[in-house]
Amino acid sequence: MPSSDSLAAVAVLRLAVGLLSTLVNGATTTGVLLWDLGLFIYNLLSKNLPANRVVPEGQPGAGGLWPQYQPPQEGSSRCSCPALNALANHGVLPRDGRNISFQQLNQTVSFDLSDIDVHNGIEHDASLTREDSIFQKDQGKPSPKLIERLLTGGTGPNGDLTPADLSRISGYRRTEAKQQNPQFSLSFNHKMFGSSNSSTLLTIFGGRIDDLRPFLLEERIPDGWQSRITHPMGLTIAEFNSTVFKVELGIKEELPASLGFGGVHEDQTKKHA
Ligand SMILES: *[C@@H]1O[C@H](CO)[C@@H](O)[C@H](O)[C@H]1NC(C)=O
Ligand SMILES: *[C@@H]1O[C@H](CO)[C@@H](O)[C@H](O)[C@H]1NC(C)=O
Ligand SMILES: *[C@@H]1O[C@H](CO)[C@@H](O)[C@H](O)[C@H]1NC(C)=O
Ligand SMILES: *[C@@H]1O[C@H](CO)[C@@H](O)[C@H](O)[C@H]1NC(C)=O
Repeated sequence: MPSSDSLAAVAVLRLAVGLLSTLVNGATTTGVLLWDLGLFIYNLLSKNLPANRVVPEGQPGAGGLWPQYQPPQEGSSRCSCPALNALANHGVLPRDGRNISFQQLNQTVSFDLSDIDVHNGIEHDASLTREDSIFQKDQGKPSPKLIERLLTGGTGPNGDLTPADLSRISGYRRTEAKQQNPQFSLSFNHKMFGSSNSSTLLTIFGGRIDDLRPFLLEERIPDGWQSRITHPMGLTIAEFNSTVFKVELGIKEELPASLGFGGVHEDQTKKHA
């Protein structure tokens, strides 16, 4: 049996290690955010890249040339994330979507795309592009009906999507899913995750319907496409987050019906001021 002295020593050591790791984690987070802020300011002060030179030379998509698109074959693995699926459809990730390695783990851990679809891990209810998992087990399957609703809900120039559109459509979708799905759940973190998806559509895709149509329906990168973020240091967390918050804070579905957003009415998804 260890003596109580050595147990106390172990406890003190554990506390010290715990405290140290909290400090290190905090310092790392602060460091990353400061670094990000630096990049954000640098972006503000510098000239944007030409729109046709956003992807660095030598990378897939440079000059808008993406490796050939092939829809998933029988037995391929796909997931709830259109971006990962599109990368697999273009062969940037393995085309079968299987056994993808985390380089940083020195290729010791491999996963299939569908592995990320454990419900309420990354995948969650009220998706803008997927039926809830209770209705559609295979979250690799886009829902053309939901995607059409999203694509026809834009009020920007050319019908492109704006942050206000994403707030309105997300609010409608959450209300609808809550009513239809007896096992509906959506934590605060998953709400933020959902609004991060919306932020991706608004920033990297610039909300442009012509690009989002093939991207969401076929999970195909349109010919010649490059990210709409032309800042030399790319999309910073600061810029991305501000769009996440704009979308999430604009969602009115939790307000009482008396304010006009309480119930599900088809016209809430339509264009109106
Ligand atoms: C997955 O990849 C690892 C190395 O990257 C390889 O050793 C293994 O055989 C692969 N497994 C399958 C099922 O392809
Ligand atoms: C991964 O590999 C690199 C060299 O290739 C090595 O320096 C590093 O320690 C390895 N990391 C782990 C977790 O094995
Ligand atoms: C956001 O993406 C995740 C992962 O692909 C998906 O499960 C989720 O439903 C999406 N959320 C929204 C609101 O579209
Ligand atoms: C961005 O948001 C995440 C949470 O969603 C937060 O942890 C992070 O600190 C934010 N970063 C910035 C630069 O606002």
